[in-house]
Amino acid sequence: MLSEKVANIPPFYVMEVLERAQQLEEQGRSIIHLEIGEPDFPTATHICDAAKAAMCAGNTKYTHSQGLAELRQAIAKNYKDKFNVDISPEQIIISSGTSPAMLLLFLALINPEDEVIMSNPHYACYPNFVTTVGGVPNFIYTNEENGFMLQAKEVAAHINPRTKAILINSPSNPTGQVLPDATLRELAEAAGEVPIISDEIYQGLVYEGEDHTILEYTENAFVLNGFSKLYAMTGWRLGYLIAPKEHVRTLQKIQQNLFISTNAFVQYAGIAALEGPQEQIMEMVETYNKRRVYLIGRLRDIGFEIKTEPKGAYYVLADARKFGEDSLELSRKILEDIGVAIAPGIDFGQGAEGHLRFSYANSLENIKEGMDRLEVYLK
Ligand SMILES: Cc1ncc(COP(=O)(O)O)c(C=O)c1O
Repeated sequence: MLSEKVANIPPFYVMEVLERAQQLEEQGRSIIHLEIGEPDFPTATHICDAAKAAMCAGNTKYTHSQGLAELRQAIAKNYKDKFNVDISPEQIIISSGTSPAMLLLFLALINPEDEVIMSNPHYACYPNFVTTVGGVPNFIYTNEENGFMLQAKEVAAHINPRTKAILINSPSNPTGQVLPDATLRELAEAAGEVPIISDEIYQGLVYEGEDHTILEYTENAFVLNGFSKLYAMTGWRLGYLIAPKEHVRTLQKIQQNLFISTNAFVQYAGIAALEGPQEQIMEMVETYNKRRVYLIGRLRDIGFEIKTEPKGAYYVLADARKFGEDSLELSRKILEDIGVAIAPGIDFGQGAEGHLRFSYANSLENIKEGMDRLEVYLK
């Protein structure tokens, strides 16, 4: 009865692990959560206050379909201040999270059988977005030695008449890798006429190397970004799409029809996030970095292989083949036996099979407890 496009959509395994972990918690089990990519920090008070004030001031109506002009100006200014790129607020569409922006974009771009080039491993949901709108993911299996990073040469070799876009994600989920300046430049060159879709949701969460936007290298790009990660605002559902000027009108019409507009007072919270004090954000970034260093060390001691250290986001994708080839089964057993929830590599594509993804968006204390349990169990 259901459409063929979605009848076989795979689950988002990270969510399945989380939901099973929560079920076990309800039964009284102690669970250490290293599966979910969700900051453990509360949203900063000034951001919450801005939402409250906006709500109480009557900002509870639809907004412009592209979002509040003030928020779009703040986003454009943020890109200018951080990366010295000029984008116009007219190029921005505010959405209820990066995920809806992704849907909007793929709906706009993809005809049946059109291809989107992406790395494998990749963020779990990318291929499902593409197939849901009738497209086909064209995977490039990336190399563990260089942190599973896309290489321009291979991208060029994969471009064909059906290629609609090249999807990149830096800092990356699940690998935590950050594409360096030279690679981004080469990718932009290799793409030629094909637009790059750059998912920049982990922007700001860079501990080694430099933070970049694809817009420093090409204007032929669509940028996906949002407030979930850096600003610890996952549940607020606030994201955006930056598009080349000539495509905005079409995207706007899809937005008007499908979503009308994004929650008004949440958009005011977004303005406060960008324009308010940044100290708390900087502290979070420092804390993530301490956890990253600790987690990598412990995982290596236990016997996981990490060929290239992750430099951004808050994930470590570790080779777990020493303990089991089937990542789903391994993560299931670890959860059931010792109550440590970890994402199975297979969620992120065949290229991450045999791996487990550890999220360090949890306290050092919990990470330590999780590692202690794993050490005893696996050794
Ligand atoms: C790479 C990547 N893109 C997009 C998203 C979705 O973000 P949002 O909460 O803004 O929908 C996530 C969430 O984990 C992600 O890891």
